[in-house]
Amino acid sequence: MGSNKLFHLIMNFIPMLFLILLCFLSKSNASRAEFVTCGTVLKIMNTDLRLRLHSHDVKYGSGSGQQSVTAVDVSDDHNSHWLVRPAMGETCKRGEPIKCNTNIRLQHVSTKRNLHSHYFSSPLSGNQEVSCYGDDSGEGDSGDNWTVVCNNDYWRRDTPIKLRHIDTAAFLAGSGRTFGRPISGQGEIVGVTSQYGAYTDWQAKEGLFVHPSDALPHQGAIHTEL
Ligand SMILES: *[C@@H]1O[C@H](CO)[C@@H](O)[C@H](O)[C@H]1NC(C)=O
Repeated sequence: MGSNKLFHLIMNFIPMLFLILLCFLSKSNASRAEFVTCGTVLKIMNTDLRLRLHSHDVKYGSGSGQQSVTAVDVSDDHNSHWLVRPAMGETCKRGEPIKCNTNIRLQHVSTKRNLHSHYFSSPLSGNQEVSCYGDDSGEGDSGDNWTVVCNNDYWRRDTPIKLRHIDTAAFLAGSGRTFGRPISGQGEIVGVTSQYGAYTDWQAKEGLFVHPSDALPHQGAIHTEL
């Protein structure tokens, strides 16, 4: 082979190498984006009922009297945003994918209260009540801790998970019942004892997913215009 031919062969090969590298890089970025991470703000949807987990400054008129948690069918309600935080007393690195069986808290973004449960009766179906609880800085108690239950390695955005309440072992679920006024049409959210019960699957939907490579000017800077 003449040196001229060899030169051309190499010159043809370089762009191909470059392409292969590019494919590899974009693939690794894509796979990181598949996960729900620590610090992510997201909406989660009950896959059977197709309702998104929701809260608002409306108290239950029964049970604990705490801030009510419901589920709504619209996708663009800002009161359906939840921040993924470590369980009370634990830490996680911002942008780190959440492994299955990790203990977390879900903080309701607009009221700062945490998704919470306890042995009170839910208003419509008489299951276990799920509420939002905590002070203005987002600190509540052990009833705010939940375990992410999934079968693969991480909480993936394309795969439903279950949320098991640590204090009571109840699974977050929709009851299939619907409220009347003043929150008419919203679905009741409850804790149920069996993970095989209906309506216990939750899928990550719209959100701001933070990743380790995101260069944020300062920690905790969460965009609010989701
Ligand atoms: C849950 O919350 C309590 C706060 O009372 C904390 O002490 C505990 O370590 C947390 N974590 C788990 C996994 O229960």
